[in-house]
Amino acid sequence: MAQVRLENLRKSFGDMVAVDGIDLTVADREFLTLVGPSGCGKSTTLRMVCGLEKASSGQVYFDEVPVGYLPANKRDVAMVFQSYALYPHKTVAQNIGFALRMMRVPKDEIARRVTTTARTLGIEKLLNRRPRELSGGQRQRVALGRAIIRDAGAYLLDEPLSNLDAQLRVEMRAELKRLHADLARTFIYVTHDQVEAMTMSDRIAVLNNGKVEQCAPPEEIYERPATMFVASFMGSPAMNFLPGQLAGERQFRGPAWSQELPVPVAVSGDVVLGVRPEDVRLGDPDGTPGRVFVVEPLGADVLVTVDVGGVHVRARVPAPFRAAHDDAVTVTFRPDRLHLFQAQGGAAVHAPGR
Ligand SMILES: Nc1ncnc2c1ncn2[C@@H]1O[C@H](COP(=O)(O)OP(=O)(O)O)[C@@H](O)[C@H]1O
Ligand SMILES: [Mg+2]
Repeated sequence: MAQVRLENLRKSFGDMVAVDGIDLTVADREFLTLVGPSGCGKSTTLRMVCGLEKASSGQVYFDEVPVGYLPANKRDVAMVFQSYALYPHKTVAQNIGFALRMMRVPKDEIARRVTTTARTLGIEKLLNRRPRELSGGQRQRVALGRAIIRDAGAYLLDEPLSNLDAQLRVEMRAELKRLHADLARTFIYVTHDQVEAMTMSDRIAVLNNGKVEQCAPPEEIYERPATMFVASFMGSPAMNFLPGQLAGERQFRGPAWSQELPVPVAVSGDVVLGVRPEDVRLGDPDGTPGRVFVVEPLGADVLVTVDVGGVHVRARVPAPFRAAHDDAVTVTFRPDRLHLFQAQGGAAVHAPGR
């Protein structure tokens, strides 16, 4: 059992603020992902949870017990790193069983747990091999095995799939999600990859400059991003953003685009209209005229970038879509799918379904 709670957690290195006051409660058995661009403080946060880094201020609680004073080996956690150095001269079995040997667990129990762990990860046939005789994916599984053989309340994973090639990453992503369900333990997962965050997590905490911008289930993060930063970071290709002002409560006006809003919005100053590529329609007779800038087939869908009065709008439309560069095309936004943000600070003032 482990609920993990971070309370106003901060970390500075000199005058460089890496983690800037994080409040977060990870429920027992939850899969929570910390996602954000490189340098936003993900690893530092995770290292404070596991005890490898001392917080400048704030506290970490496991099941409401403060653990800030405890060293890493006294906390009920197991950690998997991006750069997992396996012991090159030990076999897979010895690598997986290493932590238990250090804890002086009896030999036959180690053997039993190594076998069970290897079976969970589908590497029971590799137990006598050495790391150099393994593929990248197999090595990653061994690194996971080293962590999950320990019966920890929480498993902390820092970009464990980053060193794998794209195809293997997709495979391991699904396996990790399944592993989480089978182990029924708390997972805190760190990645800069928004697809990993979307596909695996119960909830996602989006970090920017050492702060949590939004923490919510994946669907909520995608459908109702709380800030422009979250909207731009989550989703590929990214949401379209069009700057402008409100002319009345239901009318957006920008240099390139005017749009009636589905509901009245009261906000003053500069705003930014947001629409995801899949919510852009092409070829509607009442649409705004533009010109095809470039067409990129993705297989099932086609990504079409349209120049509308000097602004590029990206549409994701079902295949086939055939057009040549500079062909005339009209553009419409699904009115029920619009987002509106304050230009200053980027807070969302309207999102679909609100
Ligand atoms: N030991 C350290 N000394 C000085 N600066 C550090 C140290 N560790 C991390 N940082 C800085 O703190 C910030 C956050 O780092 P990190 O948590 O590793 O980010 P992320 O994992 O999100 O890429 C970065 O600007 C990084 O350079
Ligand atoms: Mg990191």
